[in-house]
Amino acid sequence: MSRGGIGATLRGTGLEVPEKVVTNADFEKFIDTTDEWITTRTGIKERRMCEEGQNTADLAAGAGTRALEEAGIDPLDLDVIVLSTATPDHLLPSTSCEAQALMGAHNAVAFDVSAACAGWLYGVKIADGFLRSDGFETILVIGAEKMSAIIDYTDRTTCVLFGDGAGAALFGRSGENGSSILSTHMQTDGRLAELLWRPAGGAARPSTEETRAERMEYVRQEGREVFKNAVLQMDTSSRIALHRAGLTIDDIDLVVPHQANIRIIEGVAKRLGVEMDRVYVNIDRYGNTSSASIPIGLDEVRKRELVGEGATILMTAFGGGLAWGSMVFRL
Ligand code: COA
Repeated sequence: MSRGGIGATLRGTGLEVPEKVVTNADFEKFIDTTDEWITTRTGIKERRMCEEGQNTADLAAGAGTRALEEAGIDPLDLDVIVLSTATPDHLLPSTSCEAQALMGAHNAVAFDVSAACAGWLYGVKIADGFLRSDGFETILVIGAEKMSAIIDYTDRTTCVLFGDGAGAALFGRSGENGSSILSTHMQTDGRLAELLWRPAGGAARPSTEETRAERMEYVRQEGREVFKNAVLQMDTSSRIALHRAGLTIDDIDLVVPHQANIRIIEGVAKRLGVEMDRVYVNIDRYGNTSSASIPIGLDEVRKRELVGEGATILMTAFGGGLAWGSMVFRL
């Protein structure tokens, strides 16, 4: 737990999504689905998709540059880039290195974190730790995903859910009473890894003709099990984070949750006892952008002035790992 002090304070945010919009009606043309099913079961109406040649690092650099601009920080003065992604452009080097080069942030330390949809929150916690150590003053935490690269477009149970995009936040050192992380909670359960994973394409099972024929390089999930775990763990984790901050849900100005399914978000809100008018939702426009979803939401709520300086927000995320976490943050 951390209150005030020298940890992470928010100085700017940004987002970048591809221009190409894929609607539910577009899916009706090539898989057995309907706009009605997707809308009622998930809350998604449309999502963004990268064009050929547009990659995770491009989205990351776009979002990161906007966050730097808002904060008035020259890319050359950036100390650290932490990039969360489940869709790295290459397995070596990390996508953060490619985004660093695109942003012209040549003096920064850059590395990726891998914790699926919870990864951006984990990245913020890392940033907070870096800011408490000597020498680091400005840290960019990016969530960037080209989910369209790892989705099986013949599998109607997963392909309609995901979208591409990136969000970023620039953190500096907070003063004594400045904006900061008030509390966090994080947890992972690797025993449940196969509920949401890509069976092949990594070092354990490299891609072969056989794995490709079985479409094992793409995301597979047990939708109902993931759904149940998501509602349970986002609720529990939020409660622990609130307790650690010495707050209740009534002290929260806005909940900015990971956007996986509107029914998951509504289920968590109901359990927490918060009305949906205090919960930010943009899943109808972007689908599930994995670790980009919270920083995209954060940028939108700030730019739309749904929350201002001094507001207290609760961010909560859940995804593959299974890995989840929550953070109470004072803006
Ligand atoms: N269009 C039409 N029908 C579909 C469909 C689609 N896109 N996807 C699945 N269905 C069908 C199923 O095949 C099933 O048909 P059946 O009864 O004939 O077998 C029926 O809809 C119900 O399937 P079910 O899996 O019970 O639906 P659901 O209400 O659980 O919704 C998910 C499925 C995937 C939307 C839901 O489980 C979910 O959102 N899970 C969490 C996934 C997630 O968020 N993952 C990322 C976490 S970060």
